[in-house]
Amino acid sequence: MKEATEIRITSDRLRTRVAELAAMIEKDIAGGEAVLVANLKGSVIFFSDLIRGIRRTDLPIDFVSARSYEGTRSSGDIAITRDLNLDVRGKTVVLVEDILDTGLTLSALIRYIKEKHRPSIIKVCVLLDKPSRRKTEVRVDYSGFEVGNEFLVGYGLDFEEHYRNLPDIRVLPATERPNF
Ligand code: IMP
Ligand code: MG
Repeated sequence: MKEATEIRITSDRLRTRVAELAAMIEKDIAGGEAVLVANLKGSVIFFSDLIRGIRRTDLPIDFVSARSYEGTRSSGDIAITRDLNLDVRGKTVVLVEDILDTGLTLSALIRYIKEKHRPSIIKVCVLLDKPSRRKTEVRVDYSGFEVGNEFLVGYGLDFEEHYRNLPDIRVLPATERPNF
């Protein structure tokens, strides 16, 4: 496997933007009961930086894991491989995702959490938004960076489980991922 050498978003820019997102979330959820939820695994690095930017200390965290079935219809069928453990009924859920691509995973995940867990509201926070690939509309409350149609790795994002621990976000050369 070759190196992903071209840096798209530096760790400095990530730090600054993640702090801004944390401040926005903190302001919006002020006073209410909220649970911070990460969709595993790509969002873990982002999530751990994001939550440390929020000063309130009464915010439970939880995890879900969902992936879309590849090649199925655009309704976005997903498999929930890890469900919430905490009771979020009537509370605000802040759902944190690494990247919004086609939107199929996130739209189905939001629908699932609403129907199964009945929070009062779901706020959606994505680090990256790739609008050119969208197949279904997803309403996002907080978005870190808009990116182009290229495959990105690092800061939690993987290609076949590699590159997650890079401290910045880089471009995976097309030669390394021919089917994208
Ligand atoms: P979608 O929005 O349902 O197409 O899927 C989003 C998921 O696809 C993300 O949570 C990532 O796991 C993965 N993904 C999409 N684009 C990229 C990328 O550029 N790099 C790494 N993973 C990606
Ligand atoms: Mg992935």
